[in-house]
Amino acid sequence: MPIRLRDVFRFGVFGLAVALIVAFGISPFTGGIVEQWSRSDVETRSKLVFNAIQPFLDRDIEDQSWDRLTDLFKRVALDKKILAVGFCNQAGELVAPTPEMPASFNCEKIARSENESFANVTSGGTRILVATFPVITTKGRSYLVILTDLSFASARSSQVLAYLLASLAGVVLVLTVGTIIFALLMLRSWMSSLRRAVDEVRQGTPGAHLPTSGSAMDREIHKLLRQAENFTLTNQIDWTPKALQELLHGVLPGAEVLVVSNREPYIHNRSNGGIVVQRPASGLVSALEPIMRACGGTWIAHGSGSADRDTVDVNDRIRVPEGAPAYALRRVWISEDEQDGYYYGFANEGLWPLCHIVFVRPAFRIGDWRMYREINQRFADAVVAEARTEDPVVLVQDYHFALAPKMIRQSLPKATIISFWHIPWPNAETFSICPWKEEIIEGMLGSTILGFHTQFHCNNFVECVDRFVESRIDREVQAVSLAGHETRIRAYPISIEWPPSALQTVPAHGKCRADVFAQFELAAGTKVIVGVERFDYTKGILDRMRAVDALLTRNPDWKGRLVFVQVAAPTRSKLDAYSKLQSEAEALAAQINARHQDEQAPIRLIARHYEPADVFKLFRAADVCVVSSLHDGMNLVAKEFVGSREDNAGVLVLSSFTGASREMSEALIVNPYDTEEMSAAIELAMTMPVEEQVERMKLMRQQVKENNVYRWAGAILVDAARSRTRERILGLTESSERTRSKVGEEGSRWAARAKSTRAGG
Ligand code: F6P
Repeated sequence: MPIRLRDVFRFGVFGLAVALIVAFGISPFTGGIVEQWSRSDVETRSKLVFNAIQPFLDRDIEDQSWDRLTDLFKRVALDKKILAVGFCNQAGELVAPTPEMPASFNCEKIARSENESFANVTSGGTRILVATFPVITTKGRSYLVILTDLSFASARSSQVLAYLLASLAGVVLVLTVGTIIFALLMLRSWMSSLRRAVDEVRQGTPGAHLPTSGSAMDREIHKLLRQAENFTLTNQIDWTPKALQELLHGVLPGAEVLVVSNREPYIHNRSNGGIVVQRPASGLVSALEPIMRACGGTWIAHGSGSADRDTVDVNDRIRVPEGAPAYALRRVWISEDEQDGYYYGFANEGLWPLCHIVFVRPAFRIGDWRMYREINQRFADAVVAEARTEDPVVLVQDYHFALAPKMIRQSLPKATIISFWHIPWPNAETFSICPWKEEIIEGMLGSTILGFHTQFHCNNFVECVDRFVESRIDREVQAVSLAGHETRIRAYPISIEWPPSALQTVPAHGKCRADVFAQFELAAGTKVIVGVERFDYTKGILDRMRAVDALLTRNPDWKGRLVFVQVAAPTRSKLDAYSKLQSEAEALAAQINARHQDEQAPIRLIARHYEPADVFKLFRAADVCVVSSLHDGMNLVAKEFVGSREDNAGVLVLSSFTGASREMSEALIVNPYDTEEMSAAIELAMTMPVEEQVERMKLMRQQVKENNVYRWAGAILVDAARSRTRERILGLTESSERTRSKVGEEGSRWAARAKSTRAGG
C-alpha cells in the first residue's frame, strides 16, 4: 500500500511545529532552572576554594606576607571558571588581586557582613558572581573575594534547550512514523476483511470468515454485508404472510411500519340504528390490508364512515380487524369542505384525469390545490405524532399524498419513506399542464423510494423530473438527487394475496355457478361474462357494453345465450364525470337490452358495492371476465379473477392499457377503444376449448401466485432495508474516508470506489 510522501511530510511538519511551540513555551522555565543550577554550582565551588585556602590565608594575613598571598591567589585563579581573586583588608583596600581582577572592582562594592555573601555584577558586558568570605584575624575582620565568570551559565541554558528540542523532535518523529504504520496496518486488515466479506457474499457463503477477534468496524461491515446478502434471497422465498413477516423481522429488525392512505381499510357506518363495518372497493386497500395483517404497525387514513368517530379511542385509534386485531388504524378527520378541495377537487378532478390518459380534461383550481397541501400536511403531522422512533418505515400511498413525503422528511429526516403511486404516471408533455408540477415532483422526491407499477411509468416520471426540476439524475440506477437527498425510482407491480382470503367463505365452482344462475335467473347453458369495478370512467365500462352490443349485432345467434353481468360500485358520485357515467351506463344497458332482448336481457348492470366474497362468487361462476380499462396502473380485478379460478377454467379479456397486461400475456389482450376487436375477443373467449382455457389459466395463476402481494411488499421492504444499510455503510465509509485521506493513496482510491458504488447501487 503506497504511502503518499506529501501526507507524511504534512503530518511530520505538523508534529515538528507542535514540538517547537512546546519547546519555546517552556524555554523560559528551563533557562531559569539552568541558571539557578549554575549559580549554586559556582557558590559551592567558591566555598570549597575558601575552605581549602583558609589556613594559608589566616597565616599569610597574620604574617603580612603579601607575596605569598599573591602566589596563593594566582594558583587558585588557574581554575578556568574563576576570573579573579583578591583580598579586602580592614581598611577596605584591595590587596593581592590577581591580574584578571577588573579595574572597576573595589572593596567598597562588597557586602561587609559576618557571613559569606554572593552578588551578581556586570563588568564589560560579562556577568560575574562575586563571592565574599569574612576572614577574622587578630588584626580584625577582612574579606576574601572570589570573582567567577557566569557567562558559561547562559551557554549551558542554550545547550539544554537545544537538547530538549532535539529530543522532542525525535519523539514526534517516532510517534508520526508509528501512527502511520499503525493506521496502515489497521486499514490493510480492514480492507482485506471487507474484500473477504464481499467475496463471501459473491460466492454465497456470507459470514464464513466472520472475524471473532476483529475490530468493531470489521464486525459491523460483516454484519451489514450479511444483511445485504439476505436481501438478495427474495427469489427463493415462497411468498406467504409468514415469509413476509420473517423477512420484515430479518431485514428491518425492530422497524416501525406506518402506512398512509386516503382510503381506510375498515369503514364503520351507521345502519338501521346499529353500526356495520364495510370493506371499501379499493385495489389499494385489498393490496395493503393483508400486509398490515402480517406485519402489524399503524395505518393512518381518512375516517370517512358515519360511525367512525364513535368507534375510535381518545387518540382516534382503533385496533383492526375486529375479532383478530393485528394493527392499529389511526383515523384523520377531514371536513366536507376540505374533502371537496383535497379529495374531489385536486386529487380526483386534477391528478386523476391528468395521470390517466382517457381524454377527460383535468381541472386545476387554486383553492383545491391549497386544500390538498393542507391535508397533506395534516397527514404528515399525524405520521410524526404516531412515530415512536426517529426512523420509521413510512409507506405513503397514492396520488392523494404527493406532497406528504417531503413534509414527513422535514420532521423525520431519518425515516425510510416509500411512496407508491397506484395510478399511471403520464409523459412529460401531458404532465406539463399541471400548474404545480414542480411542487408535486419535489414533494414526491422526499421519498427514499418511489414506486410505480411499471417501468414505463418510472421512465415517464424520470422524464418529468428532467424537464421540470433542477436535480441530478442517475439513469443507470434510476435515482434522483435533489437538495442532497436521493430517491430511487422503482417498478413494483402490485398484486393480490395468494390465495385470496375472501375465497375461504366462497363455495366451490359448481355451487357458485348455480347460485349466480339462480340470482340472475339465467337459462341453462348461458355464457356468463362478468366485469367488476368502481363506476369509474377509466375502466371502460361503456366500451365493454358496446363490445357486447357489437357482438350480438354481428352474431345474433348469441341472443339469449349470453349474459354480461357488470357490477359497478358507485364512487366519487359527487363529481359530474362520475354521475354522468353512471347514468350513461344505465341508459346504454337499457338500449342494448331493448335491442337484443330475447328470452333474457343480455346486460345486467348492478350499480352497488359487492363484498369481496360476492365478487369471488361471481368470478367463479363466470365463463369470461372482461377488464377493459382505458388506462390503469395495474388492475387487480384481473388478478382476482385468476385467483378465484382453482378449476383452471375461465378466460380473461384484458385491456392492453393496464399494468396487468404486462404480466398476464395468456389473457386475450385487447384495445378497449376498438369495439370490434373487443367483441371478437369476447366471442373467442366464450368459444375457447376448455383445454386451452386450462393451459392459459394455469400459467396466469402460476404468475400471480409467485408474484403475489407479499412479494410486492417484500421487494419494497428489501429495497427499504438496502437503503437503510447503504446509509449506514456510507456513514461508516465517510468517517473512514476522512481517516484514509490522511494516510494513503489506496485510501483515496477506495473512497472513489465507495462513491461510485453508492452511485451505482
Ligand atoms: O386506482 C387508484 C386507487 O387509489 C386504487 O388504489 C383504489 O382502488 C381506488 O383508487 C380508490 O378510489 P377511492 O378511494 O377514491 O374510492
